[in-house]
Amino acid sequence: MAKSLFFFFFFMFHLTLFISISSSTPNPDNSSSSLSSTPLTAHSVLTHHGFPIGLLPTDVLSYDLNHTSGEFSVNLGYPCRLILPPDNYLATYSKKVTGKLVQNRISELNGIRVKAFFQWWGITGIKINGDDLVFEVGMVTAKYPSKNFDEVPQCVGKKHSSS
Ligand SMILES: *[C@@H]1O[C@H](CO)[C@@H](O)[C@H](O)[C@H]1NC(C)=O
Ligand SMILES: *[C@@H]1O[C@H](CO)[C@@H](O)[C@H](O)[C@H]1NC(C)=O
Repeated sequence: MAKSLFFFFFFMFHLTLFISISSSTPNPDNSSSSLSSTPLTAHSVLTHHGFPIGLLPTDVLSYDLNHTSGEFSVNLGYPCRLILPPDNYLATYSKKVTGKLVQNRISELNGIRVKAFFQWWGITGIKINGDDLVFEVGMVTAKYPSKNFDEVPQCVGKKHSSS
């Protein structure tokens, strides 16, 4: 009898401990940022391959990476528009961005478009060349210092959907 009572209190103690720990974790009023642990992993995949984190916007819902082939897909949850440094190009990210990621190189990229010279261009690949990033648009390339992409950009005109 005494033994089961002991276990009961033991159990209750752990239950209250558990509840107090789990309720003390995040601030409820910025629960929208609770997703921020997910982007960190997708962004750290970038840095592991030598790329700056700023190539992906803040809002990454999920991602997939085949470690063998390097094929990846990044799910942003919604199409994203953002301003790319340093020349303030307007860029759009599709809801789903796919490509192939190997050390120092992203190829077969699909889902990122940049507006330049009054036209939209699909970025097909990104290469690391020393301290620069080389963006490939088909046969054309444009080079920018990697450090321009050290900050994670925010999507602009984002709909704070409640659905
Ligand atoms: C949560 O909100 C507080 C103030 O409301 C802010 O100081 C803090 O940086 C926020 N945390 C995150 C992770 O956004
Ligand atoms: C990963 O890529 C390899 C090589 O292309 C392929 O054989 C394998 O099925 C892929 N794995 C998954 C989980 O898609």
